[in-house]
Amino acid sequence: MSTITPLTTLPAWAALTRHYEQINGTHLRDLFAEDPGRAERMVIEGAGLFLDYSKNRITDETVTLLVQLAEETGLRAQIEKMFNGDKINSTEERAVLHTALRAPEGASVLQDGENVVPAVHAVLARMAGFSERIRSGAWKGQSGLPIKSIVNIGIGGSDLGPVMAYEALKHYSDRSLSFRFVSNVDGTDFLEAVQGLDPAQTLFIVCSKTFDTLETITNAESARDWLLKAFGGDETAIAHHFVAVSTNKEKVGDFGIDVANMFEFWDWVGGRYSMDAAIGLSTMLAIGPERFGELLAGFHEMDVHFRETPFARNLPVLMGLLSVWYNNFFGMQSLAVLPYEQYLKRFPAYLQQLTMESNGKSITLDGERVDYQTGPIYWGEPGTNGQHSFYQLIHQGTRIIPCDFIAFVHPLTELGRHHDLLMANVFAQSEALAIGKTEDEVKKEGTKEKLVPHKVFEGNRPSNTILADRLTPKTLGRLVALYEHIVFTQGAIWGINPFDQWGVQLGKLLAQQIIPDLENPAEPTLRHNTSTNNLIRRYRRIKKGLS
Ligand code: F6P
Repeated sequence: MSTITPLTTLPAWAALTRHYEQINGTHLRDLFAEDPGRAERMVIEGAGLFLDYSKNRITDETVTLLVQLAEETGLRAQIEKMFNGDKINSTEERAVLHTALRAPEGASVLQDGENVVPAVHAVLARMAGFSERIRSGAWKGQSGLPIKSIVNIGIGGSDLGPVMAYEALKHYSDRSLSFRFVSNVDGTDFLEAVQGLDPAQTLFIVCSKTFDTLETITNAESARDWLLKAFGGDETAIAHHFVAVSTNKEKVGDFGIDVANMFEFWDWVGGRYSMDAAIGLSTMLAIGPERFGELLAGFHEMDVHFRETPFARNLPVLMGLLSVWYNNFFGMQSLAVLPYEQYLKRFPAYLQQLTMESNGKSITLDGERVDYQTGPIYWGEPGTNGQHSFYQLIHQGTRIIPCDFIAFVHPLTELGRHHDLLMANVFAQSEALAIGKTEDEVKKEGTKEKLVPHKVFEGNRPSNTILADRLTPKTLGRLVALYEHIVFTQGAIWGINPFDQWGVQLGKLLAQQIIPDLENPAEPTLRHNTSTNNLIRRYRRIKKGLS
């Protein structure tokens, strides 16, 4: 029996359904023309970010109704439960306390009655000490040489955050160190990552929350072999060239990494919410402990904003609600995140796990199947590259794709006119999407009759623009936390659990069953689906050189 009021029976849902009928036919061009104050009013400044949300298909009433929906679904109470360490990840019976990872020293966040903040800061201090030793050259490899190359081995949340943050903050990184990232079980990934590296000056960070992920353990074993080969099989080299980041001490020890070289985190940190835990060790090695502290401060600023700001002025709440508006009322299926900052080139990939592994769910917290859409598909690429690739579809395709444009007033690298050109493009794109170009306008340009329909831009395509000052560690922290809390807001509205990921299990299990079928020297008896059996037989046959 359901204990939660079904979403679609809430008064705000019904009101939004009626409101959608009224607003659906209204063009953004008219919304701007009829309301001269719109652009000034529909902005929020919070936690160091500026959001212009005026180019959305909304009126003030829409915001009021969406906020009412958030209130009726209990978002406020949910936020407090998360910050207070309640076990809101109910299917795994875990608290969700990534916000404690960036709580300032001296703060108190209770988990099962215990303040977790001192443990968080103790690990940060160990990470800082280790980072200083690597960065200063005090940490020596097996043959007495300093470390020059760092290879992060991990996948999913143990990879995407570290890669994204390394790329995003490369400007601030120690360029005398090189960083590489290995995630895929495809051997090419490992071999390319260690290409040209000197084992005597290489450090591997094995990142795995569980320390039993097939890809990571396989890559870590190959790394161990690669290292030991260089040191004639001398296992004492491992302590100088391997550290681990995990919640699982026992498995780290079993693998052969000294637990003294392990940086801990906790089961109340989800993998995709862990880039600010010890999983961020590579980030700290790259930018140094002080700047890592600034990154955490940025996260914390957004946490405070999310927890304390009224919903209508709350960046993550409002952006989360707008995504619900498009997803559930307009039936828009995807959302593009388009950073106009080359250093953020991996940000959309990072967001894909954060958003889709979190809210790609179809069962509510009380076990019922949802009768509405949940997580939209997130995707994107940095501008302006995307403009010359898929923007055609965003401008004139049959599907409407709400866009989040992210841009910065100051570039990190000055080069002639480049930054003004970049910014002109981001401002132009959101205007073209919203306002479009009418048939009359196209005709007035003297366009040939038969080309007119091809050159019309319908417009009325929604977007948000986030304009920040400059991409600093702090700003990156704010941005990541913004999307973490957008995801939280969406999950709370849809009544689902954004913190488990049961959907990845079945494929993992089947792969484990198929491995022996591929490696068995004798012809195995196959018990899979007939298509799978055929594929396995064909693979085995061709691999053996039989046609
Ligand atoms: O397969 C999905 C997943 O469990 C992610 O949620 C996680 O980030 C990733 O695998 C890696 O897990 P681990 O850090 O335990 O190796």
